[in-house]
Amino acid sequence: MARSDESLLSARRPDAPPSWWTALFVAGVVGCVAYAAWRLTADVPTIYERYERARAAQAERLRARYGALVPSEQVILRKMRDESAMAGMAGMFQTHCARCHKADGSGIVGPNLTDDSWLHVDEVMDIYSVIREGVAEKGMAAWADTLRPTQMVLMSSYVASLRGQAVEGKAAEGKRIEPWPAVEDRGDETTPAGGIRRPSGQDSSGEARSAPMGLRSPTIHGSETRTRTIRDEFSGRS
Ligand code: HEC
Repeated sequence: MARSDESLLSARRPDAPPSWWTALFVAGVVGCVAYAAWRLTADVPTIYERYERARAAQAERLRARYGALVPSEQVILRKMRDESAMAGMAGMFQTHCARCHKADGSGIVGPNLTDDSWLHVDEVMDIYSVIREGVAEKGMAAWADTLRPTQMVLMSSYVASLRGQAVEGKAAEGKRIEPWPAVEDRGDETTPAGGIRRPSGQDSSGEARSAPMGLRSPTIHGSETRTRTIRDEFSGRS
């Protein structure tokens, strides 16, 4: 008892913290204030701004490469032959669509996209509409908020290209539809700034455009002669 009274009475103020600790503490406080001042005044992009910039840069690359693609049946069908675009879309399909449609498109929650039976699609453009607007009551989001129109066109081409692979997977749903129509070699592809479409097959210089990217040869569907005639018409030759 006496001993503890004694130790109570003799209690001293604890020693001052060691100087390295004080230095660290002061450096921490100064660092905090300096960082806050820099963060609030300097033009440092936030993580959201960086994301938006990355998205804008990607859109710019896409536009430089493909222009603003017109969503139309023929453009969607033609882009199915653009191998590099389709490889890009295969990656995007993995990122955005595979969790419901499976990596190979054979379906999980979402239907099998590789067979000839479709629920919401009668013709090619319906693919674009489903991607853009989604199927809210079945849990498929509207992709218009996430993907650019050009990306939705190319994604439609990718989905259209899955058809016919008939991968064993989710059982066919919906009705069997007609095969995709034949591809015409020429037509409006892009809407240049200002929304004025070029005449088919012709660029602003009046020259016939070269084959759309990925369209390796105009002989598909045996239309080489036709293509040449159209091209000659536009370039003033015959
Ligand atoms: C959250 C799950 C989910 C995701 C992610 C998803 N889908 Fe779907 N999708 C569905 C469901 C479910 C349906 C079928 C709706 C129904 O049964 O009416 C569907 C239907 C479709 C259809 C119409 C199929 C038909 O038979 O008519 C297409 C095309 C399609 N999705 C493409 C895509 C693409 C492309 C993506 C990625 C950009 C995607 N989906 C992402 C769930 C999803």
